[in-house]
Amino acid sequence: MLRTHTCGELKKEDVGTSVTLCGWVQSRRDHGGLIFIDLRDRYGVTQVVFNPEKHKSSFDIADTARSEYVVRVEGTVLGRPDEMVNPHLPTGAIEVEGRAITVLNESQTPPFEIESEQEAEMAVNEERRYAYRYLDMRRPRVKRNIVVRHEAIRFLRNFLSERGFVEVETPLLTKSTPEGARDYIVPARLHPGQFYALPQSPQQYKQLLMVGGIDRYFQIVKCLRDEDSRGDRQAEFTQLDIEMSFVERDDILDLVEELMVSLVENLRERGLIHKRLMSNPLPRLAYDDVMLRYGIDKPDLRFGLEIFDITDMVAGCGFSVFANAVKDGGVVRALNATGACDMLTRSHIDELTELAKKHRAKGLAYIKIKADGQLDSPIVKFLGDELSARIVEALGGKEGDIIFFGADHHLIVEEALAHVRLDCGRRLNLINPEILAFAFVIDFPLFEAEMVDGHCAPMHHMFTMPRKEDLPLLDADPTAVKSWQYDFVANGYEVAGGSIRIHVPDIQAKIFELIGFSQEQQKDFAHMLEAFRYGAPPHGGIAPGIDRLLMLLLDEPNIREVMAFPKTGDGRDLVIGAPSAVEPKQLKELGIKIT
Ligand code: AMO
Ligand code: AMP
Repeated sequence: MLRTHTCGELKKEDVGTSVTLCGWVQSRRDHGGLIFIDLRDRYGVTQVVFNPEKHKSSFDIADTARSEYVVRVEGTVLGRPDEMVNPHLPTGAIEVEGRAITVLNESQTPPFEIESEQEAEMAVNEERRYAYRYLDMRRPRVKRNIVVRHEAIRFLRNFLSERGFVEVETPLLTKSTPEGARDYIVPARLHPGQFYALPQSPQQYKQLLMVGGIDRYFQIVKCLRDEDSRGDRQAEFTQLDIEMSFVERDDILDLVEELMVSLVENLRERGLIHKRLMSNPLPRLAYDDVMLRYGIDKPDLRFGLEIFDITDMVAGCGFSVFANAVKDGGVVRALNATGACDMLTRSHIDELTELAKKHRAKGLAYIKIKADGQLDSPIVKFLGDELSARIVEALGGKEGDIIFFGADHHLIVEEALAHVRLDCGRRLNLINPEILAFAFVIDFPLFEAEMVDGHCAPMHHMFTMPRKEDLPLLDADPTAVKSWQYDFVANGYEVAGGSIRIHVPDIQAKIFELIGFSQEQQKDFAHMLEAFRYGAPPHGGIAPGIDRLLMLLLDEPNIREVMAFPKTGDGRDLVIGAPSAVEPKQLKELGIKIT
């Protein structure tokens, strides 16, 4: 080893020890004839001091060192005088008196200051940070994220291995498995005109593993979806993919609950994360209930501001917007933003109205309950005092509150009020960033409420088992069919999705028909139906997104921050310069012409 210690471990107890350290020069300062170097490695920073009176030639070399030079230092650990102790640094009680220094490599001036981790600076330099990710990685925050990610994955792997799960690698060069995104495709040189698809998930393979009798499977696996990146989405991401045979829904939820709760506790105990769970055991909430109360299937449960249905109360009322919505088969719902009068000005309410409109609502009616109990509202004159008072009472409205309303088709009201609720939660400072509000959402419908091109669209994916009692509804009223789908949600994000699967060929064939699969498309999945005919066991599974989970555990605003080499919003890898053009020769070999 070129070193005896790391730059993060020397303490008072080491005073007097002779040590050799290797690392990067974080800073070099010249003070009263002495040179101080802050030497940094993965583990921390240690101050090294060079004294020209004692070690002249080393002093001269230290004097030439610049930011990010890689150096090796030999020296003796000294205690710092009391007034020089740095309580913010784990090694702040000591320094190393440099006896010898070797420059292992020089460095150009870095494109940004590595020592500085100011939020603003990080944001401004985002493109540059990702182009020089290997320098960005020298910063404590990025380094921490990479290391905690490893620790989390190690925990997950051990947890499942100890419970009899087998990790199996499934192919990357495969055929399309739709998960709702576009495929990345790879030309097959040996089969001109044919293509592999990179997996959007290992969904089909893991089900085939169940048919094969590998009754407990997991995989830490890359999934690839050709879709635009967002804060919580990358084209290339990692799942903890899980599948089990001979289980029912609650067996899988119990497993995931224990997995997630013990992961958080383990990382917390080791000081690797600081967030804590809001509740344990985790709530299991029915989809219909969640849509009503929060307007969205991935609710942020860290705060209340729940939505109430007042459709029946306002049927036939004097406010035509409400009355007409009810008459047209829509709904009227409301939420009480408690204490909002003091926090939300007139222009805030206008902004909220614009937000609701952005999400298809036609407006955002409200009732302000002023300090004197008087109602201040553009709609009370239409509703009348008596009905207004009843609505306020039903919503638990008190002085200082503002009640917001949505009236329209239920899908529009849900979407608009979900955004209004979230925005109010933020503006009213109701969201505690220290908390992880984990929950399961269960009892999803099998299909989306809105048809796509005249066909049913799977809510999750086409392998999800419908409820047995709802099978007769498949023809008559498919959107009323409930399924065995479940999601695991946290702080307003969907972190995992899964389901009990179809293992009966006839039901799978029926679903293919309902989602409008042509004969040709059905042929693409004939192998699944075939496999199910050879004794497929009942089975189900789930797949937490590792990146999203870590983003939440580490309190990062974006999943990029927990990936070593993330891509930009438009799918470029700035370090390597991908994607890139290929040689004409390569294209020719593949029989591909660029038009
Ligand atoms: P689903 O498509 O819901 O289910 O994905 C499961 C989880 O993977 C994560 N995820 C993503 N993370 C980052 N970037 C993306 N583009 C992205 N897309 C998905 C999310 C999501 O909850 N085969 C099924 C699972 C199953 O049924 O067992 C599947 O892939 O955290
Ligand atoms: P109007 O009578 O159109 O001026 O609307 C009166 C109030 O009702 C305004 O505050 C509008 O923002 C609000 N509003 C209008 N349409 C809707 C709707 N569909 N849902 C909720 N509020 C609405």
